Amino acid sequence: MTGQRVTRKAQIAVLVSGGGTNLQALINEEKLGHIPHGHIALVISNKKDALALKRAEKAEIPAIYIKRDRKNPKDFEEKLLKLMAEKEIDMVVLAGFLSILSADFIRHFPNRIVNIHPSLIPAFSGPGYYGIKVHEKVLERGVKLTGATVHLVNEITDGGKILLQKAVKVLEDDSPESLQKRVMEEAEWVLLPQAVENLAKEIG
Ligand code: GRF
Repeated sequence: MTGQRVTRKAQIAVLVSGGGTNLQALINEEKLGHIPHGHIALVISNKKDALALKRAEKAEIPAIYIKRDRKNPKDFEEKLLKLMAEKEIDMVVLAGFLSILSADFIRHFPNRIVNIHPSLIPAFSGPGYYGIKVHEKVLERGVKLTGATVHLVNEITDGGKILLQKAVKVLEDDSPESLQKRVMEEAEWVLLPQAVENLAKEIG
């Protein structure tokens, strides 16, 4: 015996719906050894053809599509919980996951769910502010600074404790798409892996 303490890494589930560039940032940072206290153990999408699923498969992470029927969202969450229990998931990352989780589900992971939002919360956040819409509203209002926020998820949309924020300048000639790209590159892909490592460390 060397007396070395074997610590278990926090097992992470990432929920996605789309392109999965934030998931990719997490995969890359884990590979680089920048998330030493966590391990991405499961990726779940509520969209069958999400590119994020392909990214996970390429990284050899179990990647599963679960159909989410609007009329019966409980079914989705029950399947999700079952899979998470099987994989002994400790924390959940919402990385471009475009559905709202119920208070019931959130109660299973108190202070253990993080979300990335593409604005400086509380600005441009809450119901209706998601994806490209956030950047359209930012440009409409003419603010000079926007950014991204990683926050804990509670039952209020975008209302949980703020963990990390980073500001990004809005340029004169920005389109919603160019702004979205810069917010991702300069803020989201930097903040999310950092926040995930911080929480994984806290859990461990
Ligand atoms: C990101 O801007 C994220 O903040 C928002 O949706 C987008 C998802 O992008 N919630 P991706 O799927 O990670 O590429």
